[in-house]
Amino acid sequence: MKKWTVAAFRAAKGKQKLGCCTAYDACFARLADEAGVPCLLVGDSMGMTVLGYETTLPVKMEETLSAVAAVARGAKDALVVADLPFGSYQCGDDAAMANAVACLKAGADAVKLEGGATVCPLIRRMTDAGIPVLAHVGMMPQSVNAYGGFKRQGKTREDAQKVLADAKAVEAAGAFAVTLECVPADLAAEITAALKIVTIGIGAGPVCDAQWLVMHDLLGLNEGHVPSFVKRYASLAGEVKRAFSEYVAEVAGGAFPPAPGV
Ligand code: KIV
Repeated sequence: MKKWTVAAFRAAKGKQKLGCCTAYDACFARLADEAGVPCLLVGDSMGMTVLGYETTLPVKMEETLSAVAAVARGAKDALVVADLPFGSYQCGDDAAMANAVACLKAGADAVKLEGGATVCPLIRRMTDAGIPVLAHVGMMPQSVNAYGGFKRQGKTREDAQKVLADAKAVEAAGAFAVTLECVPADLAAEITAALKIVTIGIGAGPVCDAQWLVMHDLLGLNEGHVPSFVKRYASLAGEVKRAFSEYVAEVAGGAFPPAPGV
């Protein structure tokens, strides 16, 4: 397989649908990469899947950089995208630039940030500086407090027009792709047809150019509630618990480790 670059990603539009997912460490990044996943997002969903927080908001820049470096070490061909955590790009564009640069120095190929028209000057500045940007419109988890919960967006015609306008704005600002999270499928289809850049849907129906799944959902590592749009391709939580409890039982019962010479 050859390396997925931003140019290759752009060129896939209309030719190949891309199944992309998150990764947070070198081990799973290597497995996903070897299985042919074209793009690995070091998502701020790490806050909920790996770090045990209720939302993505507490994720720190240092945690992101450490995970980005690990994923970049594990992935050979996948495009590695660093999700800028809450607070790393909302407190001034100079700080945002420094954080995006740090992500690329840690091994990311691109950064992702949430927002529409309001973040366009920052997207333009980053892309002018050689930092590829993957935008994110629709439901933006970092705005959970503003929404009052993780709520689907674009449901009314007016709101849908705003999501469409945001998607067009981030494309015009230089984003190479855009995430459409939790918007109606017909709106995602309209946006996908209107844009030249790749749309990556999550809870946005089948028409997008690419899809995201959070790795822990895809592998069935989460035992709690998963959104209705998620498909589990494995049920690893049960298998992992079985292995741990068998190990504990074998040590307790003397079956492991085996006696020398056995
Ligand atoms: O952090 C994340 O997992 C995301 C999703 C859109 C994939 O941003």
